[in-house]
Order: sequence, then structure tokens, then C-alpha cells
Amino acid sequence: MRTDLRRQAAATRRDPGGYISPLRFHFLTRFYDGLVRWTTREAVFKDALLAQLGRAPGEQLLDVGCGTATLSVELSRRFPQARVVGLDADGAALAIARTKAAGAGVQLDLEQAFADRMPFTSGSFDAAVSSLFFHHLRRDAKRAVLAEIFRVLKPGGSLHVADWGRPTGPAMRAAFLLVQALDGWETTRDSVAGVLPELMSQAGFANVRHARNFATALGTMALYSTVKPG
Ligand SMILES: C[S@@+](CC[C@H](N)C(=O)[O-])C[C@H]1O[C@@H](n2cnc3c(N)ncnc32)[C@H](O)[C@@H]1O
Repeated sequence: MRTDLRRQAAATRRDPGGYISPLRFHFLTRFYDGLVRWTTREAVFKDALLAQLGRAPGEQLLDVGCGTATLSVELSRRFPQARVVGLDADGAALAIARTKAAGAGVQLDLEQAFADRMPFTSGSFDAAVSSLFFHHLRRDAKRAVLAEIFRVLKPGGSLHVADWGRPTGPAMRAAFLLVQALDGWETTRDSVAGVLPELMSQAGFANVRHARNFATALGTMALYSTVKPG
């Protein structure tokens, strides 16, 4: 088991896209859930993100960059009839996800893969969600992942994203410096600039909406929604 995790960690470090693990350093992954719960108003913003999906988002749901799968587990609880797939590059995070899903008594399909090369056929999913993921990606990787989500969604399928967004004031800007110092300046600069909606439009998505902001201890959490034209 330990050798497996070490091998997986080494594989992700070799990713040319500059892969960043849940808390930047692999040895911190075990502390991820506690830290996120207490610093990001996680329950509140993830609840709002799932509310965006509406009552019946469909049968096939995808959580991109699911990490330890807090959002996937909740997705599966709310839509027990749906098949929920969580995709992440990190084997250690997915091991925690598996334990959490079993503890919650929900069935998740957990896939270890990079999000710009998803092992799914085109048009597989009715809806995709993603939280705290895009700020881990450089600009070119953000574009590639959005193109890949566009490919795996069915026409008319929706995408709902929660991630660090443009700070709503100086206090939120100052708070976000901590995330930038941890996760890296290059990938998080786009969050400060609030570029995600524009990148979604450029990937072909329609009805791009910046739905809400939440003030948190680590900065402004922004919720977005968009659809693949049907
Ligand atoms: C901050 S965590 C967010 C996890 C989870 N979505 C949440 O809300 O707690 C970011 C996740 O993105 C994953 N990740 C980063 N780059 C990735 C990539 N290119 N492909 C797939 N997963 C990636 C990391 O392994 C990590 O689990």
C-alpha cells in the first residue's frame, strides 16, 4: 500500500502539466479534509453548488478533481439514482475518498486520471461539478481541461464550478495570499483575475454565469455555471 502511494505520487510529479496535489505536498494530504472544512465554509458553498444543479441533473454525474470526494459523496446522497464518477490524479486522495464513500454507504466510481485526458467516451455525462480544482491548473491546462469537460458532457449538459475567484475587496485579496503561497502563484493568478468565465466561453460553453460569491477565511469563493449547447 505504502509503495503504491509512493509510486502514484512519483507519477503525478512527472506530469508535464505541473500537477499540484491537494495541499501541494503529498505528506499534507491526510490533513486536507480538516483544513478545508474549517477555512473555506465548505458545507455552505458546496451546498450552494449542488443546489445549482437543480432537482434532476440526470443519470451520469462527474466530479472533476474530486480529491477526497466530499462533494462526490454529497452528490451521491442527493441523487441516489445517478451514477456518480469522481476523477482525480492523486492516488492518496482517492484512497481517502474510498474510505469516506464506504463510511457514508454510497457507491462512487473513482477514477485515477488526469483531467485533460479523461478515460470516458464523448457525451457520457449529463452534468459535471468541480470544486477547489481549477486554481491548481496553469492557464494552458485550464483550457485543456475545459475542452475535455466539454467533450465528455452530453449536448445540453451543465457544468458547475466552485473555486477561488476575483477577491471582492482588500481583505479577501489579503486572505488569498495564503492560498497563493501554498498552491503556487502562477496557477492562482488567474483566480485573482477572475478569468474562468472567459475561458469557459472560449471552450464553447454557453450561458456562462458567475452565480455567487462567498467570503471565506482564505478569500472569495466564486460559483459558476454554464452549459454545453444542446
Ligand atoms: C484542492 S483539491 C480539491 C479536491 C476536492 N474537489 C474538494 O473540493 O475538496 C484539488 C484536487 O485537484 C487534483 N488535481 C490537480 N491537478 C489535476 C489534474 N491535472 N487532473 C486531475 N486532478 C488534478 C488534485 O489531486 C487534488 O485532489
